[in-house]
Amino acid sequence: MTGAKITAIGTYVPAKRLTNADLEQMVDTNNEWIVGRTGIRERRISRQDEYTSDLCVAAVQDLMKRYGKSVEDVDMVLVATSTPDFSFPSVASLIQDRLNIQQTAGAMDLSAACAGFVYALHTAHSYVASGMHRKVLVIGADTISKITDYTDRSTCILFGDGAGAVLVESDKQSTGFLGYQLTSDGSGAHHVYRTGLAHKVNNIELIDTQMLVQNGREVFRWAVRTVPLGVQQLLEKAELGLEQVDWFIPHSANMRMIEPICERMNYPMEQVLHSLVNFGNTSAATIPLALDLGIREGKVKNGQKILMYGFGAGLTQAGQLVELNLDERVGEPTLL
Ligand code: ACO
Repeated sequence: MTGAKITAIGTYVPAKRLTNADLEQMVDTNNEWIVGRTGIRERRISRQDEYTSDLCVAAVQDLMKRYGKSVEDVDMVLVATSTPDFSFPSVASLIQDRLNIQQTAGAMDLSAACAGFVYALHTAHSYVASGMHRKVLVIGADTISKITDYTDRSTCILFGDGAGAVLVESDKQSTGFLGYQLTSDGSGAHHVYRTGLAHKVNNIELIDTQMLVQNGREVFRWAVRTVPLGVQQLLEKAELGLEQVDWFIPHSANMRMIEPICERMNYPMEQVLHSLVNFGNTSAATIPLALDLGIREGKVKNGQKILMYGFGAGLTQAGQLVELNLDERVGEPTLL
């Protein structure tokens, strides 16, 4: 097995803010309810003519500027998203040309909803560890606002748009990838969905709106019950204890989900990183955004162990424990 490490990170969020006060003008809600039930204060919303591919390109440009990296020699592009510009071609193919990535690099999208970034990270690690690839660009990006029903007050308060990119490169000396966990429970597929060609799943008729539909309560219960078990299994496989994890980055779905998850795990909230307050639930982008906020704030440092854990529609879960070993930064991050 070849070693692998995350060498660089970059992020992007659209400029337009959607605050709780704005939402008060749109649906029957109020700031106190939203903050109390979710922890979210505002989200970023893409322009009408701004798509997931645009967010990806901007996140990679931030990465290149900060770490002095080129992506011309990337040999695989993986984009985790539930909101691609088109069903096909893939977002990965769209950005290959815009970023001057060699035509011989593989490029594909990966669909695992809010667990997508961690699924893609695991895939990148597998490719690099096998020795078949050397430099993989991994992006988690979504424009969920484009499929959000802004008349559904229990859903529209949650979501925002964003993108986060990392480079996974081979490392002959050691590996930064310490353990993983992947699960999927299709029996809960009808709890979060957007209809496509089919309108029925698990023998249940779906609401055909082209918008995101969720049973928030069911997703809430499922995540609080199962995420602590998934984390435990990951750590057992990695032969590490929770006390060795410096930072826990659960998917930023809702503060009121993260708190009971950490309580059940007996993990201190002070060591949790999230991107909820200013960006809301950005689906595949929440975890790289949270990691980057921790880096930008000077909390996260090389040598620390970071446990990323995504969960969402599918119902999917993906965890990845890494020891961070970023290259030295040479430029300032783009303001978020
Ligand atoms: N403002 C004011 N009141 C509201 C709002 C709102 N925005 N939304 C719901 N309410 C009301 C409800 O109508 C209900 O009123 P009632 O008791 O008179 O019927 C009351 O608040 C409680 O409703 P619940 O649905 O029980 O509220 P809950 O505390 O569960 O919060 C929420 C709802 C925020 C959606 C929560 O369940 C949640 O975050 N669930 C997880 C959602 C999630 O993570 N989805 C993942 C999708 S990710 C992916 O893979 C794409």
